[in-house]
Amino acid sequence: CRVRHYNFNVVMKNATRLCASKPIVTVNGKFPGPTLYAREDDTVLVRVVNHVKYNISIHWHGIRQLRTGWADGPAYITQCPIQPGKNYVYNFTITGQRGTLWWHAHILWLRATVHGAIVILPKRGIPYPFPKPDKEVVVILGEWWKSDTEAVINQAMKSGLAPNVSDAHTINGHPGPISSCSGKASSQGGFSLQVETGKTYMLRIISAALNEELFFKIARHNLTVVEVDAIYTKPFKTDTLLITPGQTTNVLLTADRGPGKYLVAASSFMDSPIAVDNVTATATVHYSGTLATSRTTLTNPPAQNATPVAANFINSLLSLNSKKYPAKVPLTTDHSLFFAIGLGINPCATCSNGSRVVADINNVSFVMPTTSLLQAHFFNISGVFTDDFPAKPPISFNYTGTPPTNMATTNGTRLYRLAYNSTVQVVLQDTGIIAPENHPIHLHGFNFFQVGRGLGNFNAKKDPKKFNLVDPIERNTIGVPSGGWNAIRFRADNPGVWFMHCHLEVHTTWGLKMAFVVDNGKGPNESLLPPPSDLPTC
Ligand code: C2O
Repeated sequence: CRVRHYNFNVVMKNATRLCASKPIVTVNGKFPGPTLYAREDDTVLVRVVNHVKYNISIHWHGIRQLRTGWADGPAYITQCPIQPGKNYVYNFTITGQRGTLWWHAHILWLRATVHGAIVILPKRGIPYPFPKPDKEVVVILGEWWKSDTEAVINQAMKSGLAPNVSDAHTINGHPGPISSCSGKASSQGGFSLQVETGKTYMLRIISAALNEELFFKIARHNLTVVEVDAIYTKPFKTDTLLITPGQTTNVLLTADRGPGKYLVAASSFMDSPIAVDNVTATATVHYSGTLATSRTTLTNPPAQNATPVAANFINSLLSLNSKKYPAKVPLTTDHSLFFAIGLGINPCATCSNGSRVVADINNVSFVMPTTSLLQAHFFNISGVFTDDFPAKPPISFNYTGTPPTNMATTNGTRLYRLAYNSTVQVVLQDTGIIAPENHPIHLHGFNFFQVGRGLGNFNAKKDPKKFNLVDPIERNTIGVPSGGWNAIRFRADNPGVWFMHCHLEVHTTWGLKMAFVVDNGKGPNESLLPPPSDLPTC
């Protein structure tokens, strides 16, 4: 293993999309940002220098950060942000992970343009557990706003409603070739994947979208899923992928069609009735030997509310669970938590209609502290957080039915404390308080197993009997179905403070977040390391 050094200069850059230019925050002037390459077991040092007027912090989404929470990156959770003119070196070792992950800004909505891929190759000499592809390509899905993201957040905060619907989806930074400037996409080129007949390509697909889950499809081609969130899966073939913000998926694409151009489409999946977004980002798969006059073969993206297509995809995902890559599912649960997650409406004196939308877990809408939680934990600074996050909702009700009237949301910076190495089960129950909506829940510091999933209310007696404790999918971000639930399990083997939140940026902003505090163990390698000397101050 070796040490890899990267320099990330955070700089403004003008970008033109949808026939208009605007300055955006970037790393090294690139959008999407540079790809970080490493091998399993490597140590990575990324020096981030902030040259813009905004506070910044970078999160290495999915990297376990064993004992190095100081390098995790969420602002005010594990570090104070890097202020304008300042810098910070993120120093971490990649342990027991290989595949595709990604990095992104973790403050306000800056991740809209500040993000890039992390490619973790297996240790030298260790092959993939599937046939080696001829070529590997990073494919990043994202969203684009014509206005400043700052203006978009402010509006979302005020009214609590749209404009969180973007003006375009993007594939590797572009809305794509099928488009018009007056509509929602542009004609300014698009990503084109050049292929040769007979060869196999591994697409490392990342969803950097802010507020929507996406379907991904390539005209007349099947995709073989081999890995998600840097965990190998049992390979399976599909013509449509579902990918939520935060997730990554590696697929094999065999160029088994004749010369031609084939459309790639990324379209929104949202079975909530409130947000309507039928914008499709496009790209092309371009076979060598294609005539210049050849037309692009189109594909029909699934309907925006194609829940069966989504469910079919999710239900096909299983861990590889081979001898070399066993699924280590916790069979016991020291902590059994029930989190009702959803949206609510709170009174608001300064809002135009007297109320605003909030989001919460167990009726707690999370309040961001003004100093980092990890520092408060490590240095025993009192008054920053409490560790009384409720293990279940204050009152139980029919979560997918009509909510009771006394459901006012409380505000607080409340954490849930876990003993080192304890086993944890969290049932994430989506509530239908405002509208049923999917929530891609992301946990920092751990991978978890999705041991169960269902529609309606979780049944604590019957549902656990059907849990898959053998080869459930293991990942770091999971889509909790609209009007349904997911059960996840993990082992708290990483001391520190770990954020858990909805990866729809608008829901995070509204408070759909909490954090776990994991105490040190007693063994020699079971405690959080001390902070680096250049850790930013607030
Ligand atoms: Cu990808 Cu807390 O984030």
